[in-house]
Order: sequence, then structure tokens, then C-alpha cells
Amino acid sequence: MCGIVGYVGDKEATPILVNALKKLEYRGYDSAGIAVLSEGSLVVRKAKGALKFLEQRISTEIIRGSMGIGHTRWATHGEPSDANSHPHTDVAGKIAVVHNGIIENHAKLKSWLASHGVSFRSQTDTEVIAHLIDFHYNGDIVEAVVETLKRLEGSYALAVICESEPGRIVAVRKDSPLVVGAGTGENIIASDVPALLEYTRDVYYLQDREIAVLYRDRVDFLDGDGAPVEKELSHVEWDVAAAEKGGYEHFMLKEIHEQPKALADTLRARIRANGAKSIHLEEIGFDASWAEAGRVMITACGTAWHAGVVGKYAFERFARIPTDVDIASEYRYRSPLFNPKDIFIIISQSGETADTLAAMRMAKKGGARIIAITNVVGSTLAREADLVMYTWAGPEIAVASTKAFTTQLMCVYLIALQFGYLRKTIDGETLTRYIDALEAIPGQAERILANKGDIQRFASLSFNKTKAFFMGRLFDFAISLESALKLKEISYTHSEAFAAGELKHGPIALVDDATLVVAVCTQRALFDKMDSNIKEVKARGATVLVITYEGESFFDGTADEVFRIPPAPDEITPILSVIPSQLYAYYCSVQRGNDPDKPRNLAKSVTVE
Ligand code: G6P
Repeated sequence: MCGIVGYVGDKEATPILVNALKKLEYRGYDSAGIAVLSEGSLVVRKAKGALKFLEQRISTEIIRGSMGIGHTRWATHGEPSDANSHPHTDVAGKIAVVHNGIIENHAKLKSWLASHGVSFRSQTDTEVIAHLIDFHYNGDIVEAVVETLKRLEGSYALAVICESEPGRIVAVRKDSPLVVGAGTGENIIASDVPALLEYTRDVYYLQDREIAVLYRDRVDFLDGDGAPVEKELSHVEWDVAAAEKGGYEHFMLKEIHEQPKALADTLRARIRANGAKSIHLEEIGFDASWAEAGRVMITACGTAWHAGVVGKYAFERFARIPTDVDIASEYRYRSPLFNPKDIFIIISQSGETADTLAAMRMAKKGGARIIAITNVVGSTLAREADLVMYTWAGPEIAVASTKAFTTQLMCVYLIALQFGYLRKTIDGETLTRYIDALEAIPGQAERILANKGDIQRFASLSFNKTKAFFMGRLFDFAISLESALKLKEISYTHSEAFAAGELKHGPIALVDDATLVVAVCTQRALFDKMDSNIKEVKARGATVLVITYEGESFFDGTADEVFRIPPAPDEITPILSVIPSQLYAYYCSVQRGNDPDKPRNLAKSVTVE
């Protein structure tokens, strides 16, 4: 996720671009850049790090010019650096491009361009776009963009300017947001409404593959083939604070709703669909040699550890390989045994958690090979691991992790399934079945979110319970751990999770009529066992919420409330079954008058012990 802006009008472009980028920094903040058409030449300035470093870089010069584009980056391809910052230009530096999204066929395009003599200055997927536009340029930048779009696969919001065509910006989107703000004597584009509000409240929302050509005094709209289209103007009523959160009340709710897209982004580029569907992880260098491992060890902290618990079950189920999972702060102080054939999977949203890094370094020293799953390109974990698989969730602002967790699960499944396939513990047909199930997940997540009113209503009735227990078996135990953590983090309800089989070994002593029990019931072979556990807590006065599948009547009659999720294979279900608990925690937090984005005493990234 990145933020893009563009301005053409009668004012100086540079301060407007920088100001608009400030409103988009929540979309990415590891580098920023602008390109301005100044006195007949394109002037490009970029800087690694937060926007303030770009501001410092340009503070000593005056870049005159009333048209330009800008970018704030959340790295996906290539670490944060000056060279990888946008805008990117063609070889001659006459065409500049800013991009938000992922060009999935960039490697193929890159080798094709290289065979035509193009040399690259960055590791980004975006740079190919600038060179392709140049390749198709015959004096009309709009035509060149139309031709280029035919060759791009993936998601993009783009803004393009050309030195020999002053006064116009070409913008287009597919699967990434882009809004056109219509001003008086000026027009502006941005990834999101907040960046526009200071200049105008009249906007056009671009649809997929629609192109906007912005001039100082008008905007033309075209379809993907270059034919004119009519667009309707909308008026924005929200205030700036609400707009930054995409109209949601809190970042956490926004991030919960971003999950379908984040999951699709994390999955899409790793699936090959020509012929029998397959998983391809060559981008991370995962080949057959990794599948010869003798054992998998997973370490992480907090929510990422819960993704690791799911990983343990998934690796054992799919790849039939001994798998352990441990909390990084425990792992680093016990006396672990290493085997040179061990593979370590280290999971961390930030890639900077102190205990997680220490555990990784210990394992490395012991001779193990390391696969990192992280959300932050260029993080310490990403730099020090042998292989890196990125969750393409975009920046997560709320302290309580949501979209980072579900995309971590997506990565875990992809590696576990590929492991199983390479080790021949699952055949091609089974693999295809699970890939189909993973591909269905983003749409199924949308369906759960569409029913959030049911969870909100249940939260409004139960938010003041003094204690909450989450119980489940196997994959449902892992999701119980994550669900209890979410609730305690932001609502401050005393909440615990346990494996349902442990109920009689202690927790039942605490169950009374002030207790909420959430029973996660998605492991079909264990429904009977869960039903007995539910009856045991009901008999002691607990209120019970069951999370199970649509069309499943097993728990009707026993539970006080049933929340249903779309059916999926038992092993894959955790990506879906956690969403109701995220929503429940969020609504309880709001009901209790807390700020879910900034829970007391907690930090987003724990970089000290
Ligand atoms: C903190 C955050 C959690 C996160 C944990 C591990 O406790 O509040 O949301 O799960 O750190 O962070 P990491 O960045 O390593 O995933």
C-alpha cells in the first residue's frame, strides 16, 4: 500500500504535493518523492524514510512549476532506499510515474525490457511501467499509457507525467484506489479523499481500468481502450479526521475491513493458474531443497505467535513434518537443540520485535535456515533471514493486529501446502482443492463483514461481562488464543483461552453466570466433544457464543448465540473464524468507551525486552 498524488493548476505544485502526501502518510512511510515539471524539465526529488526527509531535501531549493506528481511508499518490491523511491522515470528521465499496487508480471516485463537494452536503476516492480510507457510513446502520452496497460498484470493506481506534454497528468486505476478532485483552475488526484479535502470536496471516483486525463481547467475520462466515458461528480461530506480512516470510526475497523483485499494481494501473485493450479514461491527462493528439512521450528511473539500455532497444525497436517512452535522470549532462554536440517519460520508483523530477532539470531548461529514472514520490507528480520515472504497487508496503524494476522496465516498455508506437495504428502489434486479454498477466502471474508451487525448487537448485550473464556480444539484452539488476546488488549475484559479438553482441568472452576464463553467450533470431527464442553459451561450459568459454519445446526439449542461463517476446509478456516472475534473485541472496546486504536499500556512494536 502506498499513497499517490498529482496536481495541475495555476499554483506552485511542490507545496501542494507535499501537503497532500502528509495526509497519505498512513498508507506508507518508508520513502517519499515528487516529480515536478519545472521550466520545461522534469525535476525528480526523493528520499528514504518519512516524508520529513523529503521536505528537508527540498528545503534549500525552489522548484517552480504548476504540475507534478508525488508518492509516499510502503515497500513491497525492493527495500526502502532512495533508488527504490518513486517517482520512477524512463531512461531519458522524460516520463515520470508513481504507482500504488503490485505488478505481478514485472519479472517477465523486466527481462523483456532488458533484452531491448533497458538497464534498471531500482529493484521495484514500478520501474517497468516507466520504461514500457516510453517504449510505446509516439508523441501522445495517453496512447502510450493505454498500450502499456494492455501488458500489465496485477493491481495499480498510476499517475504519469511527460516532459514534452506540459499541462496534463494521466491517471488510471485497477484494484487500487484513486480519486480525482475537481477544483477551480486546478485539478488534483490522490489515493484517498483526505489528501484532497483542503482543495476541493467535489470528486470523481475512478472505476477499475478507467483513465482520467487532468488539465488545469478540465478532466477527460476514458475507458481502458481510450474511448471517452461520462462520470458523475460526487460531493464529500466527511470531515478530514474521518476521511483519514476511510470513513471508518477507527483504524482498527478500517483494517478489519481491508482484510479481503490484503488477503487477495498476499495470495494472488503466488498462485500459478495456467494448467493445474500450483503455488510458486520462487520469488522467495523456496525450492525443493527446503522440503528436505528434518523439522520445522516456528517462533514469534503475540499475535504472530498465534499464527505460528496455526502453522504447527498446518505443517503437521499437510507436510507430515515434525513441527514445534514457541514464544520467542521463551525459546531464547531455554536450551534448544539444533539440527542442521532444521528450518526456522520466524513470524513478525514489524520485523523488529526484540525477542523475535534474538531467537532468529540464535537459530542462525546454531546453523538453522531461516524463513521470515513479515509485513515490513527492509526490516531487520527481512534483512537477516535467508528467505523472506512478505504479507502484503500494507501498514497496520491500530495497535491490535488484524490484517497482519490473517495475511500471516495466508503465508503459512502457502508454505505448508507447498512443503506438503514437494514432500509428496499431498498430491496435485488435493493441492488444487486447497488452492481453490484459499482463493475463495477473500470473498468469504467479505460475507462475514457484511454480517457485522449481528456481532455488534451481541457485543452491545455482553460487553460488560467481567470475564470471557475462549475455547476450541486444534485450529480452533489457536484462534481461541488470538481471540482472547484481541478482547483483553482493547476492551480490558479479563479473557483467557484454553484447549477445550482442558476445561475440566481447571478453568471450569471459574465459570459462573457472569462468564461469557466463546466456543470456536469449526473442526468437524470434534463437534461432539465441543458440544459436551458447551453443555458443561451452560450448566454453570455461562452465556455461550458459538462460532461455526453456515448451514450447521449442530449447536442450535445449546448455544445462546451462534455466529456463522462460510464453510471452508477445517485447516483453512482460521483465516475466517478469527474475523468475528476481531469485530467482537472492537465493538466491546467501543461500548466500554475505550480507544481501540491506542489501548492503554500497549505498543505496536516491542523493540526492547
Ligand atoms: C506487540 C503488538 C502485537 C504484536 C506483537 C508482535 O505486542 O501489540 O500486535 O502481535 O507485538 O509483534 P510483531 O511485529 O513481531 O508481529
